[in-house]
Amino acid sequence: MKAIRVRQFGGPEVLQLEEVPDLHPGQKQVLVRVKAIGVNPTDTYTRSGTSRRPPLPYTPGIDAAGIVESVGDGVTGVKVGARVYLSGTISGAYAEQALCLEEQAHPLPEKISFAQGAAINVPYATAYRALFQLAKATPGETVLIHGATGGVGIAAIQLARAAGMKVIGTGGTERGRNLAIEQGAHHVLDHRAPNYLDEIRPLTQGRGVDVILEMLANVNLDMDLKALAMGGRVVVIGSRGRIEIDPRDAMTRDASILAMLLFNISQTQASSIHAALVAGLENGTLRPVVGKEIPLAEAPRAHREIMEPGTYGKIVLIP
Ligand SMILES: NC(=O)c1ccc[n+]([C@@H]2O[C@H](COP(=O)([O-])OP(=O)(O)OC[C@H]3O[C@@H](n4cnc5c(N)ncnc54)[C@H](OP(=O)(O)O)[C@@H]3O)[C@@H](O)[C@H]2O)c1
Repeated sequence: MKAIRVRQFGGPEVLQLEEVPDLHPGQKQVLVRVKAIGVNPTDTYTRSGTSRRPPLPYTPGIDAAGIVESVGDGVTGVKVGARVYLSGTISGAYAEQALCLEEQAHPLPEKISFAQGAAINVPYATAYRALFQLAKATPGETVLIHGATGGVGIAAIQLARAAGMKVIGTGGTERGRNLAIEQGAHHVLDHRAPNYLDEIRPLTQGRGVDVILEMLANVNLDMDLKALAMGGRVVVIGSRGRIEIDPRDAMTRDASILAMLLFNISQTQASSIHAALVAGLENGTLRPVVGKEIPLAEAPRAHREIMEPGTYGKIVLIP
């Protein structure tokens, strides 16, 4: 089969398509014929060697969707031929085949395409964890999704809207902001416009927002604290550098700064998240948005494009 292999950490060009031996499932493992692969910003951090450093060579990728080709001994809950989306793999997702643990394979409803299936795990699990498990957002609260046009942002809009929250999203382009409105945001703001968070007070009758999901904390965290309501919570999801904040902004509001890495969740938390996501996919409230499909061989292009501004849904690789 064909797979992308990384033999040294570096720029997008280190993603090389190679012929590798077919995979076979071991005990409690599932072998999936991959139909689509989700590209996440974290794949680029691993490739460049700036975050986790897997032993070289490795096949990148966490998220994929496909059809179960075979199962190992001891697998009871996943059947050959089933459509599945994956929440992680053992062998790497950027390939024609992927091995995963039984608990990493989740049913993919018929109405969700494989490309959409590849856009579920990291974005939706992150948005769900931030919104419900950490911020404990409740119906009727107002949520600012600071970076609403990308994978996590769109997932968060759909989850928050379905749960009865008032949703304000931000985007850097008109096309992205229109997408956020289509996906259920009640209001959108331009995070490239000067003083755009001044609009938060009039939009919330002067209260501020209850919850902020923050995709670029190194730019926004100081402003976020000033936009919160009493008892407000910020969840830091993305950050690419340092920032200075004024702790008094948090003190005066009894505010909380929360932060997360999806890699830190327990199996129990993951099972709960995916049960909720599968229900949302089945009842139609969750509809992953694929912005671009790119052939697997062009993975370097996908890694360049995901780090560019002007996001519009997910980038998905097709083997
Ligand atoms: N903590 C975790 O476990 C975890 C999990 C998943 C993702 N993340 C991180 O969260 C971030 C978003 O992930 P993603 O998958 O949604 O990435 P993505 O699809 O590439 O989207 C990036 C988002 O950031 C927005 N953005 C750009 N400039 C911004 C600004 N000044 N203020 C607010 N938002 C801004 C983009 O908006 P425009 O392009 O419209 O300007 C877009 O909505 C990334 O940094 C990623 O590494 C963390």
